[in-house]
Amino acid sequence: MTLGTPNTRKLHVVTHGCQMNVYDSARMADLLAPLGYTTVDAPEGADMVIMNTCHIRERAADKVFSALGRLRVLKEETGGRMMIAVTGCVAQAEGEVILKRAPYVDLVVGPQAYHKLPELIAQVHRTNKSVLNTDFPAEQKFDFLPDAAASQGVIANLTIQEGCDKFCSFCVVPYTRGAEASRPAASIIAEATRMVAGGSREIALLGQNVNAYHGEGPDGSAWSLARLLAELAEIPGLLRLRYTTSHPSDMTEELLLAHRDNHALMPYLHLPVQSGSDKILNAMNRKHKADDFRRIIARLRDLRPDMAFTSDFIVGHPGESDADFEATMALVRETRFALAYSFKYSTRPGTPAAGLPQLPEEVKDARLYELQAELRRQQDEFNASTVGLTTPVLFTGTGRYGGQIAGRSLYAQPVVVESPVELTGEIHTVTITHANPNSLLGTLTQSKETKAA
Ligand code: 5AD
Ligand code: SF4
Repeated sequence: MTLGTPNTRKLHVVTHGCQMNVYDSARMADLLAPLGYTTVDAPEGADMVIMNTCHIRERAADKVFSALGRLRVLKEETGGRMMIAVTGCVAQAEGEVILKRAPYVDLVVGPQAYHKLPELIAQVHRTNKSVLNTDFPAEQKFDFLPDAAASQGVIANLTIQEGCDKFCSFCVVPYTRGAEASRPAASIIAEATRMVAGGSREIALLGQNVNAYHGEGPDGSAWSLARLLAELAEIPGLLRLRYTTSHPSDMTEELLLAHRDNHALMPYLHLPVQSGSDKILNAMNRKHKADDFRRIIARLRDLRPDMAFTSDFIVGHPGESDADFEATMALVRETRFALAYSFKYSTRPGTPAAGLPQLPEEVKDARLYELQAELRRQQDEFNASTVGLTTPVLFTGTGRYGGQIAGRSLYAQPVVVESPVELTGEIHTVTITHANPNSLLGTLTQSKETKAA
């Protein structure tokens, strides 16, 4: 390996998994920019490829090794010059396995050590040996990463919290992302302010357990998510706020009320419930019952009648009977989701449920099929229900075809309208005329800027 000439190095970042990884990938690129790395869209000929990985489900982890095999060929084509780094949750959980199975990988860096990337890259160059850093002192990562001052566009992600202390039976997050840690409010507000100055109008606050947020406020007391949202809503030019991902047990009364009182908060919540059976929720160590979820949904619909909900489900957790699955279907049918993600339970090494007797694959397949059919129906119904509505759309840029502009509804649905003028960064009212499976079409009805609500 040789050092390229500064200012001429090409960096390609591949991101798997959640929005948190998208955010981390952008921060890593920012961190390497002063070293002369500019990002390129393809791995061919790159000086450095970072694969930012996801370990949440078995299939996500398997993807890493097949992708690494392809990168190996490209690395050989560069005469070994291309540096390959694996970051993210697979790096954290399986760092040593990666170096054993794919010795051509130069760097394995866990999510708590991204701020050390420049130093670790230098170490690889110096020693000509692969470097593994999956240290777990959660403390300072947030302090050392450059913030997202660079414009992410009209809709931006901002990580405010990381890690999780909930230890759901099926989940690797507490092991890969570590204990729950919240950023101080002042640094979040400063970062959001810079994002808005750079053109962002909607900010999604990210965290694996975002509604457990309890960062230090400027006054030294712990701020709740509701408190932080109230403060962020006051940033001039910030039109919309949302947060993801939440846990039902942390939906405090204060946070529920924020959905009525915070003018920037979108009427939209991603609240994973995983199962509708109390027996399975208990086996999952979810610490809430199906009725707690029902109560949250009902209260939010009461406080904000136009609320829409999305969720995550797992079918086939160990111990799930036909009756348990029916309870999930019943919860889905009565809740009516705008959209939901559903997965077959997959064993994750080191998690409590991995050691339990597993359900046959055919049973999981059949349940997933039935659940997804119902969720698809609900998504179509939700999209169809917006046809004829006159609703605010935040425009993010041009559409795929000439004369079209694209934006997002209050529920983050992509909306496309014909318009002779670009309205990027502005909210305008649109009458929805047609619903596609994953997007809406509409016509501009007025051109007065309005807030999120
Ligand atoms: N198997 C299947 N799905 C899982 N998820 C997390 N762990 C597993 C697993 N072991 C799902 C949950 C979570 C989403 C991000 O991924 O539904 O909310
Ligand atoms: Fe994983 Fe979410 Fe459970 Fe935490 S609350 S362990 S991130 S599923």
